[in-house]
Amino acid sequence: MKRLAVLTSGGDAPGMNAAIRAVVRAGLASDCEVFGIERGYVGLLDDHMRPLDRASVVNIIQRGGTVLGTGRCEAFTTVDGIERACEVLAARQIDGLVVIGGDGTFRGASALLAAGGPPCVGVPGTIDNDVFGADRSIGFDTAVNTALDAIDRVRDTATSHEMLHFIEVMGRHSGWLAVGAGLAGGVEVVLCPELDDDLDDVAGQMQRSLDAGKRSILVVVAEGFGHGAAHTAQSIGLKLGLEYRVTKLGYTQRGGSPTALDRTNAGALGAAAVDALLAGKSGIMVGHRGEAIVETPFDVACSKTHEIPGALLHLLDRLG
Ligand code: F6P
Repeated sequence: MKRLAVLTSGGDAPGMNAAIRAVVRAGLASDCEVFGIERGYVGLLDDHMRPLDRASVVNIIQRGGTVLGTGRCEAFTTVDGIERACEVLAARQIDGLVVIGGDGTFRGASALLAAGGPPCVGVPGTIDNDVFGADRSIGFDTAVNTALDAIDRVRDTATSHEMLHFIEVMGRHSGWLAVGAGLAGGVEVVLCPELDDDLDDVAGQMQRSLDAGKRSILVVVAEGFGHGAAHTAQSIGLKLGLEYRVTKLGYTQRGGSPTALDRTNAGALGAAAVDALLAGKSGIMVGHRGEAIVETPFDVACSKTHEIPGALLHLLDRLG
């Protein structure tokens, strides 16, 4: 019998629980013991882990957040921290580790492997959807729909008051959420780090829309664009000489019950991670490419970014 462990690390994402459940259920079905490490790499260093049986993952598939807890761990970037983690895993006789998170999580797992830790397989979970090697990271679909719901609501009041509204979505380095929700919400303008639009040009484009008879405009701004939505709104509002409102969606986008797509993807990837470990694989992330699940080495997943396809950005331009 093999002993597997699972942890979630970095920002939480809806669907992480469905992935934990899948790791546990797939592991048990293959005659493994499964341990849950609490609070990500923080809990690993503190040896906070507990056995997970079938019953321990009942009723979590529909819950947002992560029942294991998560965290960002500075100590895990140090040689001492990594060595301590290897000792804990060896003492616990862990034969394989599934790490669920973003590129920072996979960097941690790579360091662990390099220091002689047990085989590790990654599952992409971040609402930013920026992990290379995965068309859709766990949590992205739910976060897009949460943001979309808010955009639709703001649209109602923007139309009623004939006003200019700015909506800030998450994405410190990624415009996936802004583009996904902005496109689905039919907003007039999307601003994200990847596009780096000039505000004079944006204001000029908005003025032309107003001149053509538009009475309300919605602008979706990714958190990582320029100095954020508040600053962008102030600048564009001044240029146009118009009153405006700003709504920051913030952490509402990280929580909530996962969509069917996120739950299904999480289930498939959790099970695929267990299969990969049992097949003797390590140092890879499993992720969807179309309908297929592909394996991407950690160093590749960490050295590139999942870019927004040019066709999607072009569509934004054509339909905005
Ligand atoms: O989960 C991803 C993300 O939402 C980023 O878009 C954002 O920059 C970051 O997490 C903020 O998270 P925290 O406040 O937990 O560091």
